[in-house]
Amino acid sequence: MAEQESLEFGKADFVLLDNVTMEDFMANLKLRFERGRIYTYIGEVVVSVNPYRSIALYGKDMIEYYRGRELYERPPHLYAIADAAYKAMKRRAKDTCIVISGESGAGKTEASKYIMQYIAAITNPTQREEVERRVIMVKNVLLKSNCVLEAFGNAKTNRNDNSSRFGKYMDINFDFKGDPTGGHINNYLLEKSRVLKQQPGERNFHSFYQLLLGAPDALLSSYHLQRDPTLYVFTREGANNNFAINDQASYRLVVDSMEVIGFSQDEVDSVYKILASILHLGNMRFTMDGDAVVLENEDLVSHVAQLTSCDADTVKKTLLYRTVAAGGGEIIEKGHSVKEAAYAKEACAKAFYERLFCWIVGRINSVIEVKDYDVRVHGKNTVIGVLDIYGFEIFDNNSFEQFCINYCNEKLQQLFIELILRQEQDEYQREGIEWQHIEYFNNQIIVDLVEQSHKGIISILDEACLTVGEVTDTIFLESMNSKLGRHPHYSSRKLSPTDKSMAFNRDFRIKHYAGNVTYSVEGFLDKNKDTLFQDFKRLMYNSKDPVLRDMWPDGQMSISEVTKRPLTAATLFRNSMILLVENLASKEPYYVRCVKPNDQKSPVVFDERRCLHQVEYLGLLENVRVRRAGFAYRQPYERFLQRYKMTCEYTWPNHLMDSDMEATRALIDQHDFQDDVAYGYTKVFIRTPQTLFSLEQERAQLMPIIVLLIQKVWRGTLARWHYKRLKSIYKIMSFYKCYKVRSHLMEIVHRFQSVRDMEDYGKSVEWPQPPAVLEKFQELCKNLHRRWRARKIVKNIPPSEMLQIKCKVCAMEALQDLRRDIGYDRAWRNNYLACETENPGGAAHFQKSLQAMRKKDGHSSVIFSCHIRKMNRFNKCKERGLVITDRHVYRLEPKKHYKLLKCVPLQAVTGVSLTPGPDQLLVLHTRKNDDMAFCLQCTEPADESRVGEFVGTLMNYFKSIPPNGKRLLEAKFGPPGGSRGETIL
Ligand SMILES: Nc1ncnc2c1ncn2[C@@H]1O[C@H](COP(=O)(O)OP(=O)(O)OP(=O)(O)O)[C@@H](O)[C@H]1O
Ligand SMILES: [Mg+2]
Repeated sequence: MAEQESLEFGKADFVLLDNVTMEDFMANLKLRFERGRIYTYIGEVVVSVNPYRSIALYGKDMIEYYRGRELYERPPHLYAIADAAYKAMKRRAKDTCIVISGESGAGKTEASKYIMQYIAAITNPTQREEVERRVIMVKNVLLKSNCVLEAFGNAKTNRNDNSSRFGKYMDINFDFKGDPTGGHINNYLLEKSRVLKQQPGERNFHSFYQLLLGAPDALLSSYHLQRDPTLYVFTREGANNNFAINDQASYRLVVDSMEVIGFSQDEVDSVYKILASILHLGNMRFTMDGDAVVLENEDLVSHVAQLTSCDADTVKKTLLYRTVAAGGGEIIEKGHSVKEAAYAKEACAKAFYERLFCWIVGRINSVIEVKDYDVRVHGKNTVIGVLDIYGFEIFDNNSFEQFCINYCNEKLQQLFIELILRQEQDEYQREGIEWQHIEYFNNQIIVDLVEQSHKGIISILDEACLTVGEVTDTIFLESMNSKLGRHPHYSSRKLSPTDKSMAFNRDFRIKHYAGNVTYSVEGFLDKNKDTLFQDFKRLMYNSKDPVLRDMWPDGQMSISEVTKRPLTAATLFRNSMILLVENLASKEPYYVRCVKPNDQKSPVVFDERRCLHQVEYLGLLENVRVRRAGFAYRQPYERFLQRYKMTCEYTWPNHLMDSDMEATRALIDQHDFQDDVAYGYTKVFIRTPQTLFSLEQERAQLMPIIVLLIQKVWRGTLARWHYKRLKSIYKIMSFYKCYKVRSHLMEIVHRFQSVRDMEDYGKSVEWPQPPAVLEKFQELCKNLHRRWRARKIVKNIPPSEMLQIKCKVCAMEALQDLRRDIGYDRAWRNNYLACETENPGGAAHFQKSLQAMRKKDGHSSVIFSCHIRKMNRFNKCKERGLVITDRHVYRLEPKKHYKLLKCVPLQAVTGVSLTPGPDQLLVLHTRKNDDMAFCLQCTEPADESRVGEFVGTLMNYFKSIPPNGKRLLEAKFGPPGGSRGETIL
């Protein structure tokens, strides 16, 4: 029930009527129409009355006013229905459809356009650019396609200036976010006979007039056309009829729209060339010249040939002859009679237009069809369908087309009955809900009259078409009379001879749900057979125009090819209707029921008789009754709980009751809705939509909290998973580390276990590469091993050699690799001057001199003694003896029994300098800069270097002096291989 406006506008929902009677219904409908309220609900069905004037109901502000609102929050409107369909699709991933019905001129096409506009306006694409571009393109094409399809498929009739002469069902596809991803248009039975002939006061399709009146002069003359519709047989009837819409402006609009949709310039050109060809075909006349049939106006042939890019001779031949496959593969050409030629030409013109129309629809579909849809990325593909099909119509002269159109409306009424009236009542019964049956007229009987196999009118018509020999429309009528004579909805003049409104042998009448319609059988057989000679198809297929070729793929068949008899027009239409209804029935339907207020297209006249008739046949009052007695909403308990369980403490998060039904009851009771609800066996039924609305509102309020909760729990879960993974990783890592360490240690143990018994105590054993964590440890181990090995080696050295070893170690520390000839391998004897082999004959003198010195200075030991060669500042060399005792450094004169020449206290020595070369040059630095420079000399063997021994022995001595006593000799080194004269301090 819609938002309540003031009662001066009547009731916004017929369900709210005090008395559900036809009088009250009509009074309410009239009152609302007069007050400019053209929309009224019956529950979720919109009843729309054509206002025949523009009302400010469709602006942007109105779109915003209805956007996202529940049906019942706002006054009735098409937008509310469109929004409901969109929401159902988005919320529940349901395919929905909006079925717009009503008679010709009731406002179906207008309604469908407003619905499309609304859907286009509310579908906001997501921010991603490439998605947005596609969505905008789809929306644009869907909107622009209306203009093109109306130009080629609509015409002025006596009922409606812009009457749809084809049926249109448009699917719009959406992804899970609700963005349109594409669409598809199905077109149904174009009234192509209109191309040839129109009833008095009517027009051909708008496209012809748009071309003639709107195309630029140059284009028209290139098509050999003149700006005058009266010159062409096909447009003559409609040329002088008042027509409110400006054809010139429409032409530009259509051309622009085709471009926006994506037609190429050549394609647009081909489309208008085909229209021009049809106009020329219409003006062709045939006559007899002697025995032969000829064209009265042959120049038209060349126009048609040029416009269709065909060979002129072939065009002419196709118009005058037909090829027939005779037996034995022989092909003969058979000339038409004048009548046959005219008939073939007209068939060609009709087929031309029909194929053009279907090609345009196909071309639009190729642009908007859903491409690259990936269910894993875009989610479920959902659809909103909008059906705008020709309305029920009764003319003075009703033919095959009206028969089809009215049958289509019967089918749709049947669907409405099925979905709204019958199924609803059946369900209450099934669910055990108390229910008072409501009577309504079921039109299934009329549907059967038309479509039943073997017995229905279409079957009888097909049978007549199949019969060999001369079968006329009258024979078909006879056949119907005999087979359907007793049918309550069929009659003819023969069956009711007194009824003068029907002609003998021409008319039959069907009592439709919307009223009686008298059809003339004239042309039924022809239109049903819809014969077109193969020659025309071949002609077009062989055209150089690719658009034409594309339209006539069946023209490639060879003449001798035997084909199955094609299905008749009526059967094709019946099949497409059955498919359409099946398709609609599989979706969640929303209805717009259009009512035409008067036949004068007046905005002020409410023709009560006309309106009453429509309300009756549309079954609107029954709809109100069912609705009022019924329930607006039903849902299986499980799904109901799933959607609303968060609104009740007993059901959230899961109930503990015996059944879902009990849980539902608890939920409903808590909200105090028990008076508005009935409980079926499997479903809960809610009478008024407000109840559902308040549940929805509460749910919407709770959802953010639930979303937060779910997010929280989910994040927690993710973090816990992450933590567990990390823990496992660390565990694995620690086990692996242990394993690495252990195996490394084992390896060391393995390699070193027998070093005790090795000659070099494991010096040659290679250490394995340690893991990073053990690098330091391994260094320590190496040191340990080195020390152990040293101790082992040292232990074996006799005490007498210890001093020597210590000196060598000191030399090694001090000189490292500065010198090669340190002399580790030989015995260091220190006191060479006292050595007989080194100093034969001089050793005794030296000993004596030494004793004298000891007496004087009281030294206790000789640290080093050796012959040296001294250089003075005049570069003069002198042989000398050098003795270093623990007190002094003495220089002696060997030639004078080692007489003392110079004495420097050992304490005054601060350092020693040496060269890396073989010269054995040394400088002893002293504190008072009284340095001594000399080369060590040796006799046994002559080239023995004693520099290492000298430095090592001296260093060892200084090392052994206790720190509190004297200073230590410090040593610093330059880079290895440095220049001569480097100093060790
Ligand atoms: N909501 C509306 N507001 C203003 N004018 C409207 C509205 N609906 C319909 N009309 C007028 O009524 C005319 C006929 O409407 P429309 O073409 O939609 O009828 P229809 O039901 O599609 O008929 P048909 O079955 O012949 O195609 C429109 O051209 C327009 O002038
Ligand atoms: Mg229409």
